[in-house]
Amino acid sequence: MFESTQPMPDAVVSDIYAVSASDEIIQGLSTHPAYISPKFFYDAHGSALFAQITSLPEYYPTRTENAIMAIQGEAIKREAGVVSSLIELGAGNCRKAQALCALLQPQRFVPLDISEEYLLEATSDFREKLPGLAVYPVACDLTQAIVLPAHIPPEGRLVFYPGSSIGNFDPAHAADLLRRVRDLLDDDGALLIGFDLVKQVDVLEAAYNDAAGVTAAFNLNMLQHVNAIIGSDFSDDDWRHVAFFNPVHSRIEMHLESVAETLVSWSDGERHFAAGERIHSENSYKYRTHDFVNLLAANGFSRSTVWTDAQGWFAIVLARP
Ligand SMILES: C[S@@+](CC[C@H](N)C(=O)[O-])C[C@H]1O[C@@H](n2cnc3c(N)ncnc32)[C@H](O)[C@@H]1O
Repeated sequence: MFESTQPMPDAVVSDIYAVSASDEIIQGLSTHPAYISPKFFYDAHGSALFAQITSLPEYYPTRTENAIMAIQGEAIKREAGVVSSLIELGAGNCRKAQALCALLQPQRFVPLDISEEYLLEATSDFREKLPGLAVYPVACDLTQAIVLPAHIPPEGRLVFYPGSSIGNFDPAHAADLLRRVRDLLDDDGALLIGFDLVKQVDVLEAAYNDAAGVTAAFNLNMLQHVNAIIGSDFSDDDWRHVAFFNPVHSRIEMHLESVAETLVSWSDGERHFAAGERIHSENSYKYRTHDFVNLLAANGFSRSTVWTDAQGWFAIVLARP
């Protein structure tokens, strides 16, 4: 039985940033070294750039995760059992969920994302492709409390968190997010999550330094999004994209590096950057399977089934409380 897809906009939470986005950004810019949370990549243009990244030849995660899902579809379906609500964290263009909904036939789909305008476009496309499914988009910040629409029943939930987005959180914050996801589930619920595996450094670094320069444009676009939020005067010409693997922390790091000495101002503040000084804009942690399964177990998910690709580049886990 499908639910009515109306009314939809009521389901959207409009106050996305529970903590003031400008306070958070200014605090990061005032720190040495400076940082900006990767969640600020995603205005509508940033989300569209990320969608372009997913089809780049160097960017293996999306095609590898999609291939695992396609090959292991029946096994995933068996392990997932009856799913009444598919809840996707960081849903982006919702393409992966389209395939998963076709496989698992839930009654409702609840995509959550910080990029509100892009999320609403993606869900309208989703409704055209799967017209019988009830869709309740929620614009929210996953670093804050996750509040689902009150009418989503607690039983039969599958939380889907693909794209190795969990890798953007450092281990302590990843643990915190997993515990909060566990709290969304009854004992019959489950989490289907994709994570990226440690592999050759050249493969990792190429994925974040594509020849077409789309990842560089994505990284730089953050500065325009920040300008819109805090009224700063970052100019793209003053910054360049830097991405490398940090083996100590087992993570790709992305930074914005100032090409020359520069002063950035906003309404009630400024920051001087020396030539070559960096703003840390993203981490993407690369795991070994047993470490990720242990992280799940330590944070409320004691039973895991893992699927990977033939090269061992990416993994998907179905984890149960
Ligand atoms: C790496 S992309 C993955 C998109 C899609 N799930 C995929 O697998 O291709 C991360 C997604 O998470 C969203 N996102 C990033 N930080 C977020 C946050 N703090 N709260 C909610 N959504 C966030 C972004 O807008 C983006 O759509």
